Amino acid sequence: YPCDVIRNFSIIAHIDHGKSTLADRLLELTGTIEKKEKGMNKQVLDKLKVERERGITVKAQTARYLLNLIDTPGHVDFAWEVSRSLAACQGALLLVDASQGVQAQSLSVFHAAKERGLTIIPVLNKIDLPAAQPERVAAQMQGTFGIDPKDVLQISAKSGIGIESVLQAIIKRIPPPSGDISSPLKAFLFDSSYDRYRGVISLVSIQGGVLKKGDRIASCYTRKKYEVTELGIMYPEEVPTAELRPGQVGFIACNMKESSEAHVGDTLHRVGAPVEPMPGFKPAKAMVYAGVYPVDSNDFLKLEESIKRLTLTDRSVEVARESSTALGQGCRLGFLGTLHMDVFRQRLEDEYDASVIITAPTVPYKVVYKDKNGERVVIVSNPTDFPDTTDGMTSKVKEVSEPVVRATIIVPEEYLGDMMELCFSHRAEELDHRYLDASGALSSRIMLTCTMPLSEIVTDFFDRLKSRSSGFASFDYEDAGYKPSNLVKMTFLLNGKPVDALALIVHRSAEQEVGRAWVKKLHKVIPRQLFEVPIQATVGKKVIARETLSAMRADVTAGLYGGHYERKLKHLENQKEGKRRMKRIGTVDLPQEAFFEILSSK
Ligand code: GTP
Repeated sequence: YPCDVIRNFSIIAHIDHGKSTLADRLLELTGTIEKKEKGMNKQVLDKLKVERERGITVKAQTARYLLNLIDTPGHVDFAWEVSRSLAACQGALLLVDASQGVQAQSLSVFHAAKERGLTIIPVLNKIDLPAAQPERVAAQMQGTFGIDPKDVLQISAKSGIGIESVLQAIIKRIPPPSGDISSPLKAFLFDSSYDRYRGVISLVSIQGGVLKKGDRIASCYTRKKYEVTELGIMYPEEVPTAELRPGQVGFIACNMKESSEAHVGDTLHRVGAPVEPMPGFKPAKAMVYAGVYPVDSNDFLKLEESIKRLTLTDRSVEVARESSTALGQGCRLGFLGTLHMDVFRQRLEDEYDASVIITAPTVPYKVVYKDKNGERVVIVSNPTDFPDTTDGMTSKVKEVSEPVVRATIIVPEEYLGDMMELCFSHRAEELDHRYLDASGALSSRIMLTCTMPLSEIVTDFFDRLKSRSSGFASFDYEDAGYKPSNLVKMTFLLNGKPVDALALIVHRSAEQEVGRAWVKKLHKVIPRQLFEVPIQATVGKKVIARETLSAMRADVTAGLYGGHYERKLKHLENQKEGKRRMKRIGTVDLPQEAFFEILSSK
């Protein structure tokens, strides 16, 4: 295949706007997969998503074209993955649901594609729906993206309307990749996955030269050398080919054993023929941290084993061991965002086959210490390590700052007031809004932007946003650096003893509210003891909130009437069984299940 018959493209869209359905139609129309009975079609792209394979080839049989569809993830947490997938493309289909209009992620994916200089083909999907308003949404796209309504394709991926026009547009509008067959080999590594038998499988896009089986290649980044043992295209499953040529996208296996060797954004070249590396990528940055513990502390090794297995296929998770007096041995994990954390938790519980205790999510804070040797910046991602900032006189802490994001919310105008209130109650600043529709339109869509602390959106912001907008609001955010902030560490005491696993970092203005809510929650789930237990929330030396757990009666069998010896024995035995799984915090016995309940309830 010469370059000029190749087209490398992605479908970019807000969640649920029909990316997988369109991909399936394109694959069917081109004969890549068989057309299935109505409703029976397994979504190939979704399956690939699960397996984290992101490049598939669509061969258009009618023309002699080779179309490479490169998948991009749809969620905010994976914004950096979108940008790396786009690096292997020359064009993108911007898919927008004609009944929903432009949504928050339509904006972010559009900008990501625009930044990379890709040709954008605007496509309105779901025009079969009675609620579809193609003209209105096309006007939104014109106002928001500067797209000429004449360029907008109207399709229904579900019923198959207009799919042919999409193929035609891909071929006509998207430029072929450039790349010289006779130049030295230059392959851009944009994704990788792990195969138990073959090791690391990398997805590459060939920028120049030809790659063949048996070639000796080297990484610009690690300088390590490999021999190509397998290569081919994804059609949509792996199909071995004799070679990969400029402009082509395909997979290679090259006895790479550790997934950590495959650096996304790396450039591969022939051994002895070095090339200028492609501009690389910023490595994924963990933005949300949490401790993960087994419910039964004896299971730690098994849990760690499961975590290790999962990180083989998801390297964006950061892992370190940590221990807690309350919960024993555990791991501290870093995630790209809360969705990433939820997905991982789900996979972990499946893999490990049991529930895990996950501590409250924490963002990475920047603490500047000052002493006679000068200043020192420490990133703190565990509340236990957060210094006391209330002690102004003796404190060595010069400043604390927290990560902030630029948030975008798109919502029908009738919810504007609610949304602004919600944002302000989550410490939003620089709030701004504008109309996406022409003035006078009924239920016009509004785009609201603001700056917010990341910590405010890692807990329940998204749920509240959805419920307060009856599900209509869409939301996206991007990293906006760090901002100094008045933060304090909140510690919870049981009978005067701090429980490390429950420590939190909160904004000064919220300490009362948070302290009271947590103390109430603890009061509800902590079992009564033989003595009275004060439950306190403290900040610095000050007690912010307190509840008292009253004592219970000493003998569990006392309430049982009659003299059945066996029955009493059984109760005592049950009690012993319960004891074994207890954690002693100071003088208070706490079952690990209590932590589970505290930390998993919102
Ligand atoms: P994510 O994988 O979550 O990002 O979603 P997606 O963008 O891949 O969307 P998907 O293809 O899964 O479609 C979302 C829903 O919209 C599904 O229920 C589809 O059946 C439906 N859908 C997709 N295209 C059309 C269409 O043209 N018309 C109608 N009526 N429904 C459609």
